[in-house]
Parts: sequence; structure tokens; C-alpha cells
Amino acid sequence: MKILITYLSQTGNTEKVAGAIYEEASKAHEIETKKLEEVNPENVSGYDFLFIGSPIHAGNLSGAVKDFLSRLQVPSGRKLAGFLTHAGSAYPEQIMSKFTEPYKAACDKNALEYLGCFSCQGFLNPAIHEMVKKGQNLTDEQWEERVKQMTGHPDAEDLNKARVFAKEVLAKL
Ligand SMILES: Cc1cc2nc3c(=O)[nH]c(=O)nc-3n(C[C@H](O)[C@H](O)[C@H](O)COP(=O)(O)O)c2cc1C
Repeated sequence: MKILITYLSQTGNTEKVAGAIYEEASKAHEIETKKLEEVNPENVSGYDFLFIGSPIHAGNLSGAVKDFLSRLQVPSGRKLAGFLTHAGSAYPEQIMSKFTEPYKAACDKNALEYLGCFSCQGFLNPAIHEMVKKGQNLTDEQWEERVKQMTGHPDAEDLNKARVFAKEVLAKL
């Protein structure tokens, strides 16, 4: 099976998850890994399976990934799964389903099978720590706790879970 792993990643977190998915998927399949900006969403007919990754920006998928998904043209019957990283520790189901909505819409539009979305925490770019701390009105103590919680993510356990996710969805091929 031919698989495309494509992702947007500004600080490397989503790219690490892409790498873990690649490790698992490449055991039994032919894989291409590409940055989102290298892929034309209207010309991805050569793959049986697409993994598409995004960071969460301002409470949603990154705009570039949303745009990519809305323009996606894939022959019907192919399969798609998502992967996300976010600085928040864990999001409730209701918010996760908002994040995954653009993936599902792309699948509905192209008659693809949607096989789910992996998500894990990713350390926030230090350049915007002060802005987020102020924006959320957090005390120094609360912010320290937040930083402690996200430090090191995605970690070995997150990446292992990403490999397990890849294994499970690829078993459905
Ligand atoms: C401009 C910007 C906005 C962000 N907004 C959110 C957000 O709303 N919720 C959240 O959990 N994380 C947010 N993050 C954190 C990123 O989703 C997280 O650090 C992610 O792992 C970055 O992935 P990357 O290293 O692949 O770019 C934001 C990061 C940036 C740079």
C-alpha cells in the first residue's frame, strides 16, 4: 500500500509525531513523508492512505491545514487519518470533535473512509509564553505549573501511543 504522511509543523512537535507514524507504517508499506507546503491537495491521487497532521492554533486546526483539507481531492474509497499536537494537556471530547470536523468533512466530500485522529501534547513555542500567560490571566505559579506540564512533550510515551495508533489504523487497510 502507498501511504502519504503530510503535516504542518512550526516548532517540530507535529513532525516528531509524523516520524513515529512513519516508523510504524514503513514496516509494511511504501511511505512518502512531506511537509504540507510541498503537497498539492488537488493532486494526491497516487496514495491509498493519507495521514495529515496539524498543530492546534488559536483553538482550532492550523489555518493552512484547514485550507488543505477543504481543497483535498482524492479518489473515493481511499482512507484518511489525522494527527494533532496542542499545548493544552488534554481536551474534552466535545472540543476534540471540533478539531476533527475538517478531517471528517474532507472525507465526506471525497467519499473517503475516516479512520480517526491521534492527538498529544506539544511544548508551546517559548516566544509566545508571555503572551499566552497574559492572555489567560495566569499567575507566575500557575504558568510555571503549565510549563512544567508541557515540558518534554511529545515525549517517548506520546510517540509510542502514536505508533500504536498507526498500527491500529493500518490494520484496517
Ligand atoms: C500561534 C499559536 C497558537 C496556538 N494556539 C494553541 C491553542 O489554542 N491551544 C493549544 O492547546 N495549543 C496552542 N498552541 C500550541 C501548539 O499547538 C503546540 O505547541 C504544538 O505542539 C506546536 O506544534 P509544532 O511544533 O508542530 O508547530 C499554539 C501555538 C502557536 C504558535
